[in-house]
Amino acid sequence: MKFLILNGPNLNMLGQREPEIYGSQTLGDIENLCREQAASLSVGLDFRQSNHEGELVEWIQSAPKDGFDAILINAAAYTHTSVAIHDALKLTGLPVAEIHISNPKERESFRHHSYIEPLACIHIAGDGPQGYSKAIQMMQNKLST
Ligand code: DQA
Repeated sequence: MKFLILNGPNLNMLGQREPEIYGSQTLGDIENLCREQAASLSVGLDFRQSNHEGELVEWIQSAPKDGFDAILINAAAYTHTSVAIHDALKLTGLPVAEIHISNPKERESFRHHSYIEPLACIHIAGDGPQGYSKAIQMMQNKLST
């Protein structure tokens, strides 16, 4: 089993970015957490981040031919704006987990709508970096049963 974990814009700034909302862990720390969790479940992993919508779309489009079984995505601000990422996720037909470090539904109203939500079979929000581990575990579970 192999998962593609995608991170959208500004998540490369974790650790410095609004620590009162996102905590002090960096994206590197989160990647390490994911690698530990994936290894413990014998899941393969690619962990990527981009500030560019088109790059995320291209990675999503290629996911099936690159041998991924699922996409776990924190699309960050693109969650609330990107029909292109919605369409790309839909066309792959792969199972999707939506992850957020904070809980966008409890924040500003412009964060309440998610273009990822209707496509995702797993929704995680407000669990901090631990949410990534949880998503890996839940997806592995789903694909194993
Ligand atoms: C986020 C929530 C989004 O609203 C925000 O734009 C982000 C991060 C989260 O992980 O909590 O960049 O996806």
